[in-house]
Amino acid sequence: MISVIFVCLGNICRSPMAELIFKKMVEERGLSLSFNVSSFGTSDEETGNPVYPPAKKTLEAHGIKEGHTARQLTLRDVINADYVLVMDSMNLMDVLRLTGGKFGEKIFKLCSFTANPRDIADPWYTRDFERAYSDIRDGCEGFLGYLMREKSEALAYDKRH
Ligand code: 4NP
Repeated sequence: MISVIFVCLGNICRSPMAELIFKKMVEERGLSLSFNVSSFGTSDEETGNPVYPPAKKTLEAHGIKEGHTARQLTLRDVINADYVLVMDSMNLMDVLRLTGGKFGEKIFKLCSFTANPRDIADPWYTRDFERAYSDIRDGCEGFLGYLMREKSEALAYDKRH
């Protein structure tokens, strides 16, 4: 079982989109039993709130239904995760502030697994939810490809059991 958490600022746009996109991807590959996937925000600003309506609409346009409620990231969530995937450099700094600089070996920007490492711009500000969706999907594909190359034994084991 590989535990993955996606982290953004508010947990109402990018990280719940990433959680749901990644869950769908692993489901389509028959790998759901190998993963525990969730998402969090570094801020408590949106705690308890549903996914932001334009993000929800974008997910639905891509066939993804959701029912996520925003939660703030805690140190325990980082300790329990195998991979902490953040959306941008500010998220990375905020998570490292929370951990006191520890656990850097498992904290990555999502798009560092792509051919074009970049921040995922916050659609709360850009208003480009479709762009966020496609950048996140690219990042998730890159990350899953990395796992399938590097962790293929663990994934095959989980498939057999
Ligand atoms: P997210 O977007 O980090 O992708 O969930 C944001 C949501 C809310 C706020 C900022 C970014 N906010 O300032 O409330």
